[in-house]
Amino acid sequence: MKLIFLGPPGAGKGTLAAQGVVICKVPHISTGALFRSAIAAMSPVGCKVKPIIEGGGLVDDETTILLVKERLAQQDTQRGYILDGFPRTIFQAEALATFSAIDKVINVDIPDATVLERLLGRRVCRNCGANFHITFHKPKQEHHCDVCGGELFIRKDDQEGAIRKRLEVYREQTLPLIAYYRKQGLLLDIDARGPVDTVVANFKKALGIS
Ligand code: AP5
Ligand code: MG
Repeated sequence: MKLIFLGPPGAGKGTLAAQGVVICKVPHISTGALFRSAIAAMSPVGCKVKPIIEGGGLVDDETTILLVKERLAQQDTQRGYILDGFPRTIFQAEALATFSAIDKVINVDIPDATVLERLLGRRVCRNCGANFHITFHKPKQEHHCDVCGGELFIRKDDQEGAIRKRLEVYREQTLPLIAYYRKQGLLLDIDARGPVDTVVANFKKALGIS
């Protein structure tokens, strides 16, 4: 199954995708995570995108489309994938349609106040990328990842100023994709306000998985 997870920053796309991988048996491809790996590796792409991502802006379409095209050419995507955070512009969506046909778009939605609450409390593992939250998903050992024991850190774009910028960019550039995919009959709306288990149940129900 080829799925897109669409939604504002902090909606829980990555958290739901971690469960979606097990449910759908397909890889999770997060453009944000791919960019963060490039930044950590200090590759040419990483150096270029670092200030853009940390400030809450969007990376240019050309760089992002190339990254996704190369990733989708890998063998493990043959049975499908969960694309988390791509496409984010109509231009990216039109480009994607030229190299991969998607089955459904999951619109993971929450109000702005919940975005701030979730992102200001998020902690991420520096080693494996697992997400935690100081209130909603506390690590067993403070500052350490439950999965691999790695150090937990706060993403640079999880400062309030960058979060507000990301929300503004989302409304301007990404929100039009909801109408775009609804018109194509591909959109499934998921209420993502509740706890993770409820959101996962909503996801399965929307896809008709028992
Ligand atoms: P990206 O990494 O994709 O960031 P984002 O879209 O802003 O989304 P987040 O990862 O912040 O949130 P999420 O929805 O995954 O939520 P999470 O599950 O972590 O992109 C980063 C940047 O890269 C962009 O700003 C841009 O610069 C660039 N980029 C990426 N893709 C691009 C593209 N296509 N084009 C151009 N540029 C691109 O959850 C958040 C927190 O809430 C966690 O702490 C979690 O534990 C908690 N939580 C999750 N679900 C629940 C729940 N149900 N109840 C309670 N708490 C919950
Ligand atoms: Mg994410």
